[in-house]
Amino acid sequence: MNDARLDFDRYDHVRPILWTGEALQLLDQRRLPFVVEHVACADSDAVARAIRDLAVRGAPAIGIAAAWGVVLAARGVEAADGPAALAQLEPALQRLNAARPTAVNLAWALARMRRGLAGAGADWRQRLEREAQAIADEDLAANRRMDMLGAALIAPGSGVLTHCNTGSLATAGFGTALGVIRAGVAQGRIARVYAGETRPWLQGARLTVWELQQDGIPATLIADSAAAHLMKTGAVQWVVVGADRICANGDTANKIGTYQLAIAARHHGLKFMVVAPSSTVDLDTPDGEAIEIEQRDPGELFGVGGVRTVAEGIAAWNPVFDVTPAGLIDAIVTEKGVVGQPTAEKMRAAFGG
Ligand code: MRU
Repeated sequence: MNDARLDFDRYDHVRPILWTGEALQLLDQRRLPFVVEHVACADSDAVARAIRDLAVRGAPAIGIAAAWGVVLAARGVEAADGPAALAQLEPALQRLNAARPTAVNLAWALARMRRGLAGAGADWRQRLEREAQAIADEDLAANRRMDMLGAALIAPGSGVLTHCNTGSLATAGFGTALGVIRAGVAQGRIARVYAGETRPWLQGARLTVWELQQDGIPATLIADSAAAHLMKTGAVQWVVVGADRICANGDTANKIGTYQLAIAARHHGLKFMVVAPSSTVDLDTPDGEAIEIEQRDPGELFGVGGVRTVAEGIAAWNPVFDVTPAGLIDAIVTEKGVVGQPTAEKMRAAFGG
């Protein structure tokens, strides 16, 4: 086993968000893996649309994109200082915030941009740009710290199952759960990686296995419905996932299907790990009941790859996140450390300050 720090240049070659100084270029995740193309956002409403329509997705990535959206919104503003600029920018901030409801990183990043402005003088424009860049840089740094913390929990030779996409595409780079998996593979702790398709949007099938392929990490795709059977075979010892919001009591919202993986993992005696930057921890949300679960167009369930597979006139229900109760989680890994068997007390101790 090799516990040396990871050679980050060897991994993580994908960047979903590029700030050119003029516009925000977003790698269009609706078109991957067959079309690698960027959409240019020239104003904040284009960024809000890109978030809502999933051109950019993943909790940390939408927070970072929204922060750059505020920088774009500032283009049309003339103000003597930060508070005056903030008054004019508030409608744009609110439109960005409304783009998606569940991942707290969006509101977190916008709150941080607001605070930056509130304390800024005549140089408020530069301050905004510095803040957006800091949000992106800190996310990458957090990911590069969590990889080792999470991987250290995994015994050599283990198999892991992951869900959705938590890699470079979902973050400033490198990824959360996928970062732990990259480090675990490099260290010889992880011998087998399985990824669930993640119906209906197929983040696992279209994005995760593609990202791992870029890194030369062999991964095996499974249908979401094969997960419990996979666990029963003994091929996996850990389920490793990301998060969209971690509540004060440790309840965790993540991509729909995560909850059933946690139940199945507990049934089979497997461990369940959540990996997320502390910007995903929301002590103002007491528990999972208080989280708004995004409902998307039922049309997402009516076909695959643009081909309709369902008869006309069928009703569908499409919640795209669910909540895993803290009691089913063995470890929450953030850049601040590991909270084992999370409870409200442990969360307060780790994040309350
Ligand atoms: O709807 P998405 O693709 O934005 O959902 C993403 C997830 O649920 C991820 O697991 C989560 O945001 C963590 S990404 C590091």
